[in-house]
Amino acid sequence: MAVAVGVIVAISLLIFAILLYPSLVVSQSFRQLNLPPGKVGGESIAFEIPGSPVLYTGVRDGQILQYRGPIAGWLEFAFTNPMRSRAVCDNTTDPDMGPVCGYPLGLAYNPLTRQLIIADAYLGLLTSGPDGRLAKPLATAAEGVPFVATNAVDVDPLSGNIYC
Ligand SMILES: *[C@@H]1O[C@H](CO)[C@@H](O)[C@H](O)[C@H]1NC(C)=O
Repeated sequence: MAVAVGVIVAISLLIFAILLYPSLVVSQSFRQLNLPPGKVGGESIAFEIPGSPVLYTGVRDGQILQYRGPIAGWLEFAFTNPMRSRAVCDNTTDPDMGPVCGYPLGLAYNPLTRQLIIADAYLGLLTSGPDGRLAKPLATAAEGVPFVATNAVDVDPLSGNIYC
């Protein structure tokens, strides 16, 4: 009897879980998206507009890359550190170069303002508009407390509030 009750409870929980999370049971396929040659990472990923293939990711050499879909591929989009030099930084995989080259660990996209929000481990929060290039500093502290090793970030598109 106890076993039968246990089985019924388990089936009920399973049906409940399927109703709550149908995506878990719908079969899924996975595809690999390779970074351009020489780029290491894929620290964080932020999609631009729902339904669009455009996405952003930060790589170890300090660049933020934009992926524009299978045909256009990857573009160098933005960087965080005004001192970043291509000669020194491009393709570097040395994490100690982060303070010089930039270290964009967290990304979030606000589709309403078309701004990419960047959490750089050394430079705090920055933002980049649709044209990319050198990102603009937003904040290095919150309520007087300096950020340390800013890592993950998200943005509420309705309020514009940034969480990191
Ligand atoms: C980075 O690596 C890629 C692939 O090896 C190469 O084509 C490119 O020229 C490199 N860039 C620099 C600045 O070394």
